[in-house]
Amino acid sequence: MINPTINYPDRLPLAQLPTPLQLLERLSTQFSGPRIWVKRDDLTDCALSGNKIRKLEFTLARALSQGCDTLITCGGVQSNHCRATAILGARLGLKVHLILRDEELQGKGLNGDRQLTAPDGNLFLDYLAGAEISIYPKTEFQTRQGELFEYWSQYYATQGRKPYLIPTGASDGTGVWAYVRCIEELVGDFQRADIQPSHIIHATGSGGTQAGLSLGCALHQLDAQVLGIAVCDNTVYFQRKVMADIVDWQSRYKVSSLPESLSVQVNDDFIGPGYSRAGPEVFATIKHVAALEGLLLDPVYTGKAFHGMLSLIEKGYFADTSDIVFVHTGGLFGLFAQREQLSF
Ligand SMILES: Cc1ncc(COP(=O)(O)O)c(C=O)c1O
Repeated sequence: MINPTINYPDRLPLAQLPTPLQLLERLSTQFSGPRIWVKRDDLTDCALSGNKIRKLEFTLARALSQGCDTLITCGGVQSNHCRATAILGARLGLKVHLILRDEELQGKGLNGDRQLTAPDGNLFLDYLAGAEISIYPKTEFQTRQGELFEYWSQYYATQGRKPYLIPTGASDGTGVWAYVRCIEELVGDFQRADIQPSHIIHATGSGGTQAGLSLGCALHQLDAQVLGIAVCDNTVYFQRKVMADIVDWQSRYKVSSLPESLSVQVNDDFIGPGYSRAGPEVFATIKHVAALEGLLLDPVYTGKAFHGMLSLIEKGYFADTSDIVFVHTGGLFGLFAQREQLSF
């Protein structure tokens, strides 16, 4: 069994923490189910809003401890993780290179041509923060990802720089610490609010947030079920990916065994048309929640997951519980890139 004294590795205090826990009173009443609380990780900072900054606090501490001066990472053109990396790189004086995937580019730019993609939403902020950007069509990005990392890594090494490679979403054994730590925050939030929520619900995209939350509950002995709502791949994929991140954490930080209470639960019923595409019901939820509670969600992650949570409430999934918590992981800038989906 793991030592209950948690030995966190070095962390750069980059995010505005702790984030608030807020009750959505009107929405809870309207759905006549459990009280819905929101952990406002969309408030970790202004343009650095969201879950990625929590992970990058640990990831960038590691990069600096290895003497790295250049960050190379990847994601979709509207990646929140890439935007957070671009801005934090600028804040810390590090060079940042983003390898981006454009789902719409099929067959057009085959060599990282960035001119073909509109600089909107997160991509706009990536440029503003001065990141180097190369954009690839989905198939090329998927089949050549390792090669592309290698290529850009060599490119900077020959310029005398020391690159640090960050995987998609900073989801690896180091990124896991971010939400282990967030659970510690939540334990305090729950005590102050005098609640014992049965479920902690969130959007799952590259698995790292879920790995940290699930492991965090087990390590901090918090009796709540983490429920990841998948925004792209299916349950089997995410269960494997989350466990792979946890095993990576175990090996990087020399943890002899995992807690017995560790449980990874993923719901893949709300993926809809696919990654970064949402159906009209998700946009309807985004509008409804914004107008009723002043809470802004995005169509790629939080809107999809929040819609999934509300659907589960309607189906009676949380019938026996009094309180549930949604972790708002940010992503607002992705909404701007899909503005044409919202009519007023
Ligand atoms: C806004 C937002 N929410 C949730 C997620 C999912 O987090 P994770 O990649 O750790 O699964 C991401 C990134 O993928 C994100 O950008």
